[in-house]
Amino acid sequence: MCGIIGYVGNKEVVPVLINGLRKLEYRGYDSAGITVLNKNKLILHRCAGKLINLEQELQKFLIRGKIGLGHTRWATHGKPTRENAHPHTDCKGNFVVVHNGIIENYLTLRKKLVKEGHKFNSDTDTEVIAHLIEKYFKGDLLKATQRAVKDLKGSYALGVISTLYPGKIVAARHGSPLIVGISEKENFIASDVSAILAYTKKVISLEDGETAILDFKGVKFFNSCDREIHKNSRTIEWDPMMAEKGGYKHFMLKEICEQADVVRDTLRGRICLEKGGVFLEEEIGWKKEEIDEISRIFIVACGTSYHSGLIGKYVLEDFAKIPCEVDLASEFRYRNPLLRKGDLVVVVTQSGETADTLAALREAKKKKVKTLAICNVMDSSIAQECDYVVYTRCGLEVGVASTKAFMGQLVVLYLLGLYFAKFRKSLSILRIKQIISALLELPVKIEKTIEMQDIIRDYAHRFFRKSDFLYLGRNVNYPIALEGALKLKEIAYIHAEGYAAGEMKHGPIALIDENMPILVIANQGKVYDKILSNIKEVKARDGIVIVLATKGDRKIAKEVEDVFYLPKTLEILTPFLNVIPLQFLAYYIALKRGCDVDQPRNLAKSVTVE
Ligand code: G6P
Repeated sequence: MCGIIGYVGNKEVVPVLINGLRKLEYRGYDSAGITVLNKNKLILHRCAGKLINLEQELQKFLIRGKIGLGHTRWATHGKPTRENAHPHTDCKGNFVVVHNGIIENYLTLRKKLVKEGHKFNSDTDTEVIAHLIEKYFKGDLLKATQRAVKDLKGSYALGVISTLYPGKIVAARHGSPLIVGISEKENFIASDVSAILAYTKKVISLEDGETAILDFKGVKFFNSCDREIHKNSRTIEWDPMMAEKGGYKHFMLKEICEQADVVRDTLRGRICLEKGGVFLEEEIGWKKEEIDEISRIFIVACGTSYHSGLIGKYVLEDFAKIPCEVDLASEFRYRNPLLRKGDLVVVVTQSGETADTLAALREAKKKKVKTLAICNVMDSSIAQECDYVVYTRCGLEVGVASTKAFMGQLVVLYLLGLYFAKFRKSLSILRIKQIISALLELPVKIEKTIEMQDIIRDYAHRFFRKSDFLYLGRNVNYPIALEGALKLKEIAYIHAEGYAAGEMKHGPIALIDENMPILVIANQGKVYDKILSNIKEVKARDGIVIVLATKGDRKIAKEVEDVFYLPKTLEILTPFLNVIPLQFLAYYIALKRGCDVDQPRNLAKSVTVE
């Protein structure tokens, strides 16, 4: 998730770009850059790190111009260095591109372009776009861009300017957000309205496949067949803070709602139904023998990442048939783990900076075993120190209570399981294909689940005064019970416990009375009947039962009044959907109790101390 802005008009462009980038910095701050077109000369400034670095550099120059582009980066392909910072140019520096998204087929395109004589200056997927536009340019920047995007697979929001086509910005979108801002004698493009709200409230969203060309006088829009179309503008009424959160009240809510895209982006380019496989060669690239050699896997993490690791155990053992242990990083590092040749230590971390996870990783490295990180922040300490990294592609997560990062971690753990299974032949090709196709269907099912959040809000309004909650799940959904309880503790400050439903009879059952809401995860599958028995036990003790069940389950409706129905998916994939209503429940209860959802008391996003 990067942020882009473009301006053409009668103002000096640099302050407009910098103001816009400040508002977009929440989308990523690995590097920032701008380009300005002045009398057919392109001026380009880029810096690694936060926007402030770029601002300091710009103070040394007097840059004038009325048209330009800006970018703030959340690294996905290529380290967060100056060379990889946007904007990117073609061979001769005539075409400049800013991009938000992921180009899946960039390696193939890059190889082809190199053969044709193009020279590349960065490791990014974006640079291929500049070279493609250079290749297709025959005097018309719009046409060249429209032709270039036809070669792209993946997602993009693009801004393009050229010395050979002065006074114009070309924009294109597929799968990543892009809006056009309209004003008197000036027009804008931006990743979201927050970047341009200080100048105009009149905006038009580009849809997938559409392109646009802007100059200071106006904007023309084109559909995916490159035919000119008319689009109506809308007026934005958000205040600037709301705009930064995309119109959501809190970052946490926004991030819960971004989870379908997280799954899409994290799968992108790594999974293919036709080829029946998962492709992590770029990140891992181990030979078959190396994968065969893995005898045990240790997953190590903290907090929410630990819960995704617990699910990873079920998945890796089921898919790859490799024994797997999961440890809290703070325990692992002090328990002198008996690691030996053939062990693989997988650390799971959103930030890549958690002190305990970093120390656990160092402990593993000391014992000379292979280490792999599942991480969201590119080039973070853990990503740098680990032997291998598979990145989640969640973009910046701002809410302290992790939501979308958990979703991204699950995706990578499942991919890892399938990747190992492919080499170890531990699953049939048919089963692999079945799982892949179910994974590909997940984003739409996640969207459907999110659409039903009002039902959960109603539960929250009924139960927000309760002081204790119990969450029950079995098998692959036991960690989801833990995660649901953790979310409620973190942001609503309510005592909540997650339990393996089968363990209820060994203790928690003593707590149950008519005041205690009990969330039960009861998807259809191999443990369904067992869960039904647990529900009956709770009801016999007058507990308040709320069930997460599979759509179409008539049996459950006879037992329980409050049922939240989730779309049907493979049993092993149910955690992806079950976690969403539990995130919403914590969110809406916290809201009702007046808690600070995005910055809960005593907690930090990244815990860099022991
Ligand atoms: C903190 C955060 C949690 C997070 C945990 C692990 O406690 O508040 O949301 O799950 O750290 O963080 P990591 O960045 O390693 O995933």
